[in-house]
Amino acid sequence: MKELYTLDDLASRDTLDEGANQPARLAVIGCPVAHSLSPQLHQDALNESESEARYIRLEVPPGRVTEALERLADLQFVGANVTVPHKFEALSAADEIDDSAAMLGAANTILFDGDRKLAFNTDGPGFVRAIHEEFLVDVKDLRIMVVGSGGGAGRAIAAQCVREGCEKLVLVNRTVEKAEALAKELAPYLESERLEGPGDRLKVFPLSSPEVITEADHIDLIVNTTSVGLKRSDSSPLPSPCLQPHHLVYDTIYNPPQTRLLHEAERIGARAANGCSLLLHQGVLSFELWFPGKQPLATMRRSLRNTLDHQ
Ligand code: ATR
Repeated sequence: MKELYTLDDLASRDTLDEGANQPARLAVIGCPVAHSLSPQLHQDALNESESEARYIRLEVPPGRVTEALERLADLQFVGANVTVPHKFEALSAADEIDDSAAMLGAANTILFDGDRKLAFNTDGPGFVRAIHEEFLVDVKDLRIMVVGSGGGAGRAIAAQCVREGCEKLVLVNRTVEKAEALAKELAPYLESERLEGPGDRLKVFPLSSPEVITEADHIDLIVNTTSVGLKRSDSSPLPSPCLQPHHLVYDTIYNPPQTRLLHEAERIGARAANGCSLLLHQGVLSFELWFPGKQPLATMRRSLRNTLDHQ
């Protein structure tokens, strides 16, 4: 049994399952994928549900995602998670795409139905559950600032905020053109929501603009989706004056568990939470797609806590 599998290991069932007690039926595909916590997140829940299935990490080079998914379907996998950089390629490999994945233009979950590949995205719905769990509020009732809306996570979260019909969405990004392009894609969806037009409901600012600070006065939830904070020595992605005691501050980073942003938020009396809950809930939603009716939340929460405690 290996820590990391490649396409060559998909040659046959015998090769794939050599030395293992259970057949591999689920995989996370990415490049690189060695760091993915998904196997730890899912395996205990699989064991508990008596699914007789092993969850593996599969490294797939860019351009070979369709081939990988076809081989997994041939080997009678139940499904797969898809991570960076394959979330877009996975969508084009799918035979059927759910609304959430279609709007985001990216898939993080595949369910095999015979040789058909069904694509979903649980990142956005996982974010909604995470915010409710952390702060006991609904995304739809909030004025939200997404910092770092140029990356995959920012895109998924911003799109979900629009899907929920949030009160207001402010996109902030170092490279403002990327946030502007995203706003252009999202605006039509906002127009069809409960207010008459996007106007003040959807705004875009470069991260360096002083207006980010004044705009923060009218924001309930600040979400960091930049990679700033992944290194312990990183500063906060936002200037300190942005943060106010009335803010809810969510950092999608979970390792380290307290980024500079979260530290500063707590110091001024704001409520703050890290990305553990997002990791958990997107995983739970994937599991529920693969195994309808199962309730893996408590087990997955425990597995994640154990894994992060030992990192
Ligand atoms: P992905 O999530 O798709 O891997 P990424 O390239 O890691 O994306 O970038 C995630 C986000 O972090 C982007 O919004 C990026 O800003 P740009 O669009 O301007 O590149 C943001 N980001 C990364 N490093 C940053 C930094 N030092 N300061 C501010 N924002 C940063």
